[in-house]
Amino acid sequence: MKKRVAILISGGGSNMVALARDMAGDHPARPVLVMANDPAAAGLARARDMGIDAAAVDHRPFRGDRAAFEAALMARLQEAAPDILCLAGFMRVLTEGFVARWQGRMLNIHPSLLPKYRGLDTHARALAAGDAEHGCTVHEVTPALDDGPILGQARVPVLPGDSPADLAARVLVEEHRLYPAVLRRFASGDRRPILTP
Ligand code: GAR
Repeated sequence: MKKRVAILISGGGSNMVALARDMAGDHPARPVLVMANDPAAAGLARARDMGIDAAAVDHRPFRGDRAAFEAALMARLQEAAPDILCLAGFMRVLTEGFVARWQGRMLNIHPSLLPKYRGLDTHARALAAGDAEHGCTVHEVTPALDDGPILGQARVPVLPGDSPADLAARVLVEEHRLYPAVLRRFASGDRRPILTP
């Protein structure tokens, strides 16, 4: 039986597209739902174009009531009965209660070499620190922000004159390789990390 995967996004969804494209043929999983917290998220249309069910639960009417927002999210998710939840550029912090419901089955991609630079503005922070390398991490989601067992990491060089946007673009190329590779492994029950030199 193929694992059922739901993907949560907030924006363009390029990582979602990379994951969904990979889930074909002998891949142990299939995408069953893409959800966004913003009805205007461009990734929703991209998912529908790929034939994947897509839905939004707008977080704004909940006015900061994260538990109520997550209850609405959970209700729609449960209709799709996913085995695995992938956060792919999902920019809402999830409560401990939600994370507990999915623990061991929820992955996230973060644009830094964790444990460095949890949170936002990772590329600018790597540049400000004068780092010689930067990258991205896929990890299991646990209640602490951008924490949890590391399932994969890919590195890129920081080049002279890089802007945060330059660095973000270089990292994104690696995100699109790393996340599908990790999901493929994870969905087959293998949790050994994928670490590039
Ligand atoms: C990606 O770079 C992802 O790593 C980052 O948002 C971008 C989403 O791009 N995620 C975070 O910063 C999570 N805290 P995408 O919508 O094109 O996949």
